[in-house]
Amino acid sequence: MNVFRTLALGAGLSGLLLSTAYAEGLSGKVIGFSQIGSESGWRAAETSVTKAVAAELGIDLKFADAQQKQENQIKAIRGFIAQGVDAILVAPVVATGWEEVLTEAKEANIPVVLLDRGIEGPEDLYLTSVASDQVKEGRVAGEWLVNAVADKPCNVVELQGTVGSSPAINRKQGFEEALAGKANLAIIRSQTGDFTRSKGKEVMEGFLKAEGGGANICAVYAHNDDMAVGAIQAIKDAGLKPGTDILVLSIDAVPDIFAAMVAGEANATVELTPNMAGPAFEALDAYLNGGTVPAKFIITDSKLYTPSDDPQGEYDRRKGLGY
Ligand code: AHR
Repeated sequence: MNVFRTLALGAGLSGLLLSTAYAEGLSGKVIGFSQIGSESGWRAAETSVTKAVAAELGIDLKFADAQQKQENQIKAIRGFIAQGVDAILVAPVVATGWEEVLTEAKEANIPVVLLDRGIEGPEDLYLTSVASDQVKEGRVAGEWLVNAVADKPCNVVELQGTVGSSPAINRKQGFEEALAGKANLAIIRSQTGDFTRSKGKEVMEGFLKAEGGGANICAVYAHNDDMAVGAIQAIKDAGLKPGTDILVLSIDAVPDIFAAMVAGEANATVELTPNMAGPAFEALDAYLNGGTVPAKFIITDSKLYTPSDDPQGEYDRRKGLGY
């Protein structure tokens, strides 16, 4: 039976009240979760939330950390199939290369749910995909910048996510769409920072060196907040003021980016909820217990936050979520 419930997450997640619609019929089910790794604060929160929601629902969650490697994810999925799990959750590190293993899951009659990232391939290989509209995320960030700079000339540097991942591809596309036709805005450099803070800092250092110590850069657009936080450090090390000398915009809405906003060092972020598991479990319950096939794409919200949106309050609301 589906119920709406407010889930008070325990222990390390105690600061947050997570409202989610979910089902109780998964109690006792065995569900495998192939997670990408722990490259970002957002990823850590998604892992924490998934484990907490599974525990609350009485699911026996088999968790596998792929350490950012697709081959490890494929191995884990094959292991779940061999164990005969009831369902599989997978956050696919890259978009291609899934057909063979997902066909094996399909042939074993094990429903697969994609979490937070999409794949290229036949849609019948997965039951549903719970993710944001990543093109929209990029567009929302780009539109913020277009409005913020108005007619002023603005050179942008871009820190891309993991090469070949759906958020890197789509967030780039959406941002470029927002900037299209704006003669005063140009993306002058774009490179991957692999969604990590350390790589974001390193790549930003290179951009700053190559662009007159930063004099030629008006804004940095990072495909996630962790890379933005790394870039902020690089900008400060170069003797400039992030948020003022160089605008900083990114995606995720993790606590650290709100702390940066409070300090005046970040200008905009687009929220990505770490609660992908709630809708995924609800869909799985309806499917496994009633045969209801869910929508192929379950899309989460993409809300823009800026320093006028109570960043201290947003920080406080999120800090217990496992980021
Ligand atoms: O797929 C979602 C992205 O993956 C998040 O934006 C990023 O932080 C994570 O690594």
